[in-house]
Amino acid sequence: MGGSHNRVKGSAIVREVSTNFEDAISNHFGTRVPDYQQAQGAHSSYIAALRAHGTEVEVLPELRGYPDCCFVEDAAVVIDKTAVILAPGHPSRSGEVESVAAHLAETMGTIRLEGNGTVDGGDIVFLDDTFVIGRSSRTDALGAESLSRIIKSFDYNVEILKVPDSTLHLTTVCSSPREGTIVYSEGDMDASSLDEYADELIAVPPQESYAANTLGYPNDRVIIPSGFPETRKLLLDAGFSITTVDMDPIMQADGSLTCLSVFTG
Ligand code: GLY
Repeated sequence: MGGSHNRVKGSAIVREVSTNFEDAISNHFGTRVPDYQQAQGAHSSYIAALRAHGTEVEVLPELRGYPDCCFVEDAAVVIDKTAVILAPGHPSRSGEVESVAAHLAETMGTIRLEGNGTVDGGDIVFLDDTFVIGRSSRTDALGAESLSRIIKSFDYNVEILKVPDSTLHLTTVCSSPREGTIVYSEGDMDASSLDEYADELIAVPPQESYAANTLGYPNDRVIIPSGFPETRKLLLDAGFSITTVDMDPIMQADGSLTCLSVFTG
């Protein structure tokens, strides 16, 4: 078997918010037009939170002409120090990939998907020794199969799950902040589709579904978006120590905590 998921998150790349952030895609969580300056402020708080948890963060410059460019998670996933370069499924986002790939290639090997399938990194959730790939409006069957073959070549288990139409990505509705635990949005997912993968399922209520996307660190530390009191209480009761980040300006473009990083080490 491959290794197991350690949640140290020693290093990450992020990318500056686009000055055209108002044109970012927004179909799910947005309540107003995405605002560049507000998003920049949230992005800075996010970076500060990662650094406070020990992640060395490298900030890439804005990619001109790509309003969603801060959502680097969709371009690549790092598996055992190799970057798997992905193929985002929205046409406006496919051009973001080469810049991320070139940057990652400076420090690690890279692998490409085979064929013409599409995969957004937002559809990949790493549990303890299993990668779950979501089939979604962005990640198609060909892409999921191609990624699955690559992941298996690293000796990890792979499962493919259908992402509900109510949401954008698999990471939007579930995350695994510590070994054996999955936090999921009960308004979007059935516990029965997840319980074989975890000892503990924490169900985020429908009105707080955005908070199902968490960032876990060792010793039961977790970053969650601010403004979701029921989820906060559920996680406190489950023994987590919590840091919150105001993600509302990023949420306006359907971006969650995990969307803003590729964890590289
Ligand atoms: N706005 C993020 C995405 O739709 O990919």
